[in-house]
Amino acid sequence: RTLDDAGALAGKRVLVRVDLNVPMDAGRVTDATRIERIVPTIREIADKGGRVVLLAHFGRPKGKREPNESLQPVVEPLSQALGKPVAFAEDCIGEPAKAAVSALKDGGVLLLENTRYHVGEEKNDPDFAKALAANGDFYVNDAFSAAHRAHASTEGIARLLPAFAGRGMQAELDALTKGLEAPKHPVIALVGGAKVSTKIDLLQNLVAKVDMLVIGGGMANTFLHAQGKDVGKSLCEKDLADTAKRIVEAAKAANCRIILPTDAVTAKEFKANPPTETVAVDAVPSDAMILDAGPDSVKVVNAAIDEAATLVWNGPLGAFELTPFDAATVAAAQHAAERTKAGELVSVAGGGDTVAALNHAGVGETFTYVSTAGGAFLEWLEGKELPGVEALRANG
Ligand code: 3PG
Repeated sequence: RTLDDAGALAGKRVLVRVDLNVPMDAGRVTDATRIERIVPTIREIADKGGRVVLLAHFGRPKGKREPNESLQPVVEPLSQALGKPVAFAEDCIGEPAKAAVSALKDGGVLLLENTRYHVGEEKNDPDFAKALAANGDFYVNDAFSAAHRAHASTEGIARLLPAFAGRGMQAELDALTKGLEAPKHPVIALVGGAKVSTKIDLLQNLVAKVDMLVIGGGMANTFLHAQGKDVGKSLCEKDLADTAKRIVEAAKAANCRIILPTDAVTAKEFKANPPTETVAVDAVPSDAMILDAGPDSVKVVNAAIDEAATLVWNGPLGAFELTPFDAATVAAAQHAAERTKAGELVSVAGGGDTVAALNHAGVGETFTYVSTAGGAFLEWLEGKELPGVEALRANG
């Protein structure tokens, strides 16, 4: 159920779970993307006369009131994004919360302090969930990026109040459905990043669902090593060679084409702008590291993107944070963006580094959907059920 099903909200206290786990440096928010994404839901409820009570976590204080993990520094940027004042309560339950909620007027917005200041949050303690629910008539979850956590403010509470998906959650679920649950085929997945070990479940799930799987970044080295290639000093999880072989076998059985780099940009040192050499993947010098996919690989990847109707992207294709090792990621991202702009491709991307990589390529706005979720996006790619979403469905 979405906000369309919530009925009249005027005068109602609406507890809205948002993700305000934003990047912060010395008490200042350094990237407001997550704040901007929750504005439509808050504005809609406030415009309908609802009293918005925001629930959120910040950091991992593990039940302690860590002063540097307070949500207070988010109040000002949130208020600016909304164009209206945002009140703040120093606790998410008990007297401070109760008093602040009672003082709210129709259309007002209140942010409650970090839910993780209480151990009951991560334990999904029923009494803590009840204490949170006591401040609301309705519950709205607009935090897809925290939906992989079965916590009191994401899961427990959704079973205690009439529960609805916020507009951000709704957009995210729609995009993910288009990306993998009910996509237009052929589907291509681009998976990069440093390590295979963190993405085994994800690769196993993807080979069963997509038509083409591009494996890039450091994790491609393990696959090249499993094929008997010498990857020199490259990052490589040699103990996972058998796992890599099994994934390739599973892909063959499922008719999924695996695309690995054919050439690589190598260097002897991991730093910006060192001397580089571009070589075929079977000619990597023994004293060098693979730091990016080469131009031939980019041609192959872009040609595969041309065949696809849907693209799902997680993880950069090279060490994109250092020039010139951002080249393959930027080229593929821009190619996918062009096809998206032309209406030929549905492109869905997510995961921490992915968003940074796409913004670096200047295409974050052009993709069909870029998720702000890290862990939740990965778990979704792994085919797992997300407790926060399941609880909404169960009570929807
Ligand atoms: C995130 O930043 O990905 C979410 O807010 C979840 O945070 P967590 O990994 O600390 O649960």
